[in-house]
Amino acid sequence: MDTRSRYLQEMGITQWVSRDAGFHSVPGIGVAQDLNTDESDLIQNDQLMADLLTQVETCRQCGLHRTRYTTVFGVGPIPANLMIVGEAPSAEDDRQGIPFVGRVGQLLASMLFSIGFKLEDVYIANALKCRPPDDRDPLAEELAHCNPFLLQQIERIQPKVILALGKVAVQSLLETNESPGQLRNSGQVRAVAGVPVIATYHPAYLLQSPAAKPESWKDLYRARQLLINGSSA
Ligand code: URA
Repeated sequence: MDTRSRYLQEMGITQWVSRDAGFHSVPGIGVAQDLNTDESDLIQNDQLMADLLTQVETCRQCGLHRTRYTTVFGVGPIPANLMIVGEAPSAEDDRQGIPFVGRVGQLLASMLFSIGFKLEDVYIANALKCRPPDDRDPLAEELAHCNPFLLQQIERIQPKVILALGKVAVQSLLETNESPGQLRNSGQVRAVAGVPVIATYHPAYLLQSPAAKPESWKDLYRARQLLINGSSA
């Protein structure tokens, strides 16, 4: 079994492969090489991102700065065609300053690989930049303080599609009370700052409820179609 088939199996997807129809990874669809950005824009964007990083690292707007070990800003290429938004750093992420380390991150990597992306081609950030103590749910006030940072990241990363993982990411990005499932069922693709947002289950939920993986794979596939064709149909 090849690597991709293994990842698809892990996502609960049964492959029916015809002799001449393959599902190939698309080299470079994650990295924004095709964005028409000139070098001076990139340098300026680098500086803006560095300034934003400093603002996050020194932020004391909510109580989370008292319990964090470090801030977790985000990782990935800038610009990037696909941006992932999760909820908040875990204990291990807080120690390392990197989002999605550990089992949840491994499943996220498998999910991305199953639609032809590599983790390193994608920009990954969270709705919250600091870990809530004991991994409790983020408070509305904490999300409200962090939201401007996320919006500025989106502006600088210039993604073509955002994949929102779980309810907190969806609610923070779209300022809605709807769940990923409700958004999916509505059939609409909503946008933030003009960027379409595809909502799906959080990988931590998928680890507990593997039966939801095929549904999640469909969401990821829609994100891929949106990137390639500009339409998720
Ligand atoms: N780690 C993250 O960075 N984000 C999540 O949502 C979960 C774990």
